[in-house]
Amino acid sequence: MPATHDPRPIGVFDSGLGGLTSLREVFRSLPSESVVYFGDTARVPYGNKSSATVIRFSLEIASFLVKQNIKCLLVACNTSSSYALDALGARLSIPVIGVIEPSVKAAVAASPRGRVGVIGTLGTVGSGAYPAAIARALPGASVISRACPLFVPLIEEGWSDHPVTRAVAEEYLTELRSAGLESLILGCTHYPLITPLLASLMGPAVKLVDSGAEAARAVGLLLRQRGQ
Ligand code: DGL
Repeated sequence: MPATHDPRPIGVFDSGLGGLTSLREVFRSLPSESVVYFGDTARVPYGNKSSATVIRFSLEIASFLVKQNIKCLLVACNTSSSYALDALGARLSIPVIGVIEPSVKAAVAASPRGRVGVIGTLGTVGSGAYPAAIARALPGASVISRACPLFVPLIEEGWSDHPVTRAVAEEYLTELRSAGLESLILGCTHYPLITPLLASLMGPAVKLVDSGAEAARAVGLLLRQRGQ
């Protein structure tokens, strides 16, 4: 912890409880930080809502968290990060960290031939935010994206280790499994909860990138750079 440690909390939000996977990583990598977490359980899911709605919800939550005197904001939700990061950055005077840039950095580092896969909600994949960020980080990279909308309800049902979820994953990942990928970005808060299933289907040659963990590391780096 720097001598000048800023005692204000880090603000973290997600569309619901899925962002607790990111929060776990924040506590792991930054154990001396305190956090105010907002899970929008009243309005979850965000993954199939319009960009305008997700931006409006994200700005409302950010405004609430800023009133809690946070020193920076971690947007743990991939769908919010895809749609609302620019609007949040323009509105807030504190640093805003989304999950996309940190995940892309890790995926590109693990993909010397530029073969990256992305899975996420309909909103995240439909927004094209991940391929755009990958193209900025590694021009010429080959990106295959797949929306996996059934994963969130299956995981929330507690079926992380269930034959139905395996069958759904096999269907969703068919193209990704034969694409010679080097990395696969788990572009949704819930997906780290089915990491063993995804790892067994993708095989050991594919590095699975946990967006929440990468974003938590980015928050740590930011706070160190700012002496906070
Ligand atoms: N938190 C969302 C995300 O990471 C997944 C759940 C939802 O659809 O709201 O995209």
